[in-house]
Amino acid sequence: MSLPDQPVYQACYRSTPIADPKTVILDIVRLSEVNNHKLGVSGMLYFSPVAYFQMIEGSEKNVLKLMDSIRLDARHAVIWESYQPVARRSFRTELPMGYIDDADLRSGAIDNGFHPKRDDYSKAQANIACQFLVTSGQQKYPSMSYTY
Ligand SMILES: Cc1cc2nc3c(=O)[nH]c(=O)nc-3n(C[C@H](O)[C@H](O)[C@H](O)COP(=O)(O)O)c2cc1C
Repeated sequence: MSLPDQPVYQACYRSTPIADPKTVILDIVRLSEVNNHKLGVSGMLYFSPVAYFQMIEGSEKNVLKLMDSIRLDARHAVIWESYQPVARRSFRTELPMGYIDDADLRSGAIDNGFHPKRDDYSKAQANIACQFLVTSGQQKYPSMSYTY
């Protein structure tokens, strides 16, 4: 498990669902909780009928290894990926994979104006999405977040 002061690498991507997310999300989250924990990876996954956004953070080696297997998954098609070293994690390793969906947004539990469009694949959207995953995740899982 990585300590907060060890180098942290962050990946964020957007993908388009191929299988209906509602039917596969629990399988994905359950598997991710186990795998990511083993790898010392934490993160957040957003899903809707038209998009997945995911952020994972951990050691560079393990984040890249995980992305190699996620990219090959036939249940979705990855549209863009962005990578960066960060000063520290946004989520504790106690949250190997938190998830948020449209219901969280509609219920008003998380209201930060994030409404991903089916066809917006721009780099600007990537940056907004990564920020969305952090702020929304910290709202939904406050005890699992690092405070700054
Ligand atoms: C949207 C999406 C997100 C995923 N996120 C993760 C993840 O965070 N961790 C993980 O282990 N698998 C994740 N998976 C599943 C992987 O793609 C893959 O099935 C899993 O790592 C098992 O790979 P393996 O059979 O090569 O061990 C995700 C799949 C999808 C479709």
